[in-house]
Amino acid sequence: MPHLFSNIEQLPPDALFGLKARYVADDRATKVDLGIGAYRDENGKPWVLPSVKRAEKLLQEDPSYNHEYLPIQGFAPFVTAAAQVILGEDSPAIAEKRLVSVQSLSGTGALHVAAKFIKKFYSKSETVYLSKPTWANHFQVFETIGLKTATYAYWKDETKSLDLEGYLRDIESAPEGSVFLLHACAHNPTGLDPTPEEWTQILNAIKKKNHLPIFDSAYQGFASGSLEKDAWALREGVKILKETPIIVCQSFAKNVGMYGERVGAFHLVLPTDENKAAILSQLQVFTRSELSNPPAYGAKVVAKVLTTPELRKQWQDDLITMSQRIHKQRLALRDRLVKLQTPGNWDHIVNQQGMFSFTGLSKEQVARLESKHAVYMTANGRASVAGLNEHNVEYVANAIDEVVRSASKL
Ligand code: LMR
Repeated sequence: MPHLFSNIEQLPPDALFGLKARYVADDRATKVDLGIGAYRDENGKPWVLPSVKRAEKLLQEDPSYNHEYLPIQGFAPFVTAAAQVILGEDSPAIAEKRLVSVQSLSGTGALHVAAKFIKKFYSKSETVYLSKPTWANHFQVFETIGLKTATYAYWKDETKSLDLEGYLRDIESAPEGSVFLLHACAHNPTGLDPTPEEWTQILNAIKKKNHLPIFDSAYQGFASGSLEKDAWALREGVKILKETPIIVCQSFAKNVGMYGERVGAFHLVLPTDENKAAILSQLQVFTRSELSNPPAYGAKVVAKVLTTPELRKQWQDDLITMSQRIHKQRLALRDRLVKLQTPGNWDHIVNQQGMFSFTGLSKEQVARLESKHAVYMTANGRASVAGLNEHNVEYVANAIDEVVRSASKL
């Protein structure tokens, strides 16, 4: 019998989690998951970082260990250390106390806070510009709050490189004061980041139009193995855009490998310290009304990692382990495709960085990879390189070779 909600439209499964479900349900003996961006070790298994394991042990052995509520703003040692790691210990924004930070439900939660904040307090624009392409969830995060989204040029298909000209043109033609979401490093899905020179041009163009930047930082340290290098663009943004507030959405899902624990922070870097207490009070109402107070466990673990010198050192080694293993698999995949003389140029696989490679495979080729070879990646041709290892990279290269050749026969 029809009821009040009978007319609600059924949506397709989420592109990434739907893919995961298909992979899990696939009973073929050989299958490869290059879908969701989550690090895997050389045997294709999830990896608990040694730094995290040690932090968890220390935490549980601590006589004051408990599961009490956190303050609404979050676990203070975590929030402070998170700001320092992303902005830099010597950040003028921290020294001049012009920063407002709250703990969030990882990067997505921080983006959600950003969306609510813009909707409620930013009267200049209701449109958030996203790179084309971007992480699919970006659209939903802003649109579910009632903001509009638009796209700016980013990826040039023909050359598999950055469309800098189009990017700068779109920054210039967007109405003054628009919101621009920038991937701090390891762009998702392309794995292609602007060079420092290109970033400088991009940031100056944003400054000229008084746009409001949001830096989405989900891969600091994971991309290159260096926390400093991966934060360079964001820190340069803080310098160049000194007169503009800057929103930073920080995730610790990937770089500490605590995907399901949802550890992150929302930071607002202000030009001055004026009105900070008022802003914080509003952010606290967002948290109180949605979560009451943020989850404690992951934040305590990450705070331990960030603030204990030996663990911090171990974490930096862990970041190198992850980024180097991924880079090695990029080389292995590219080399194997070259050896097979697979039609096309595959150098972009090694030139991209971070979790993903935007392979350039078409939707049809991706569908054939899944149906014929049980190799799973997103329909836009994005492969999570972390899913590759010595045991499966050859299989994946052979499968790619087959689908590319079969498409060229059509
Ligand atoms: C991804 O893009 O695969 C990750 O960021 C996981 C997610 O939440 O979508």
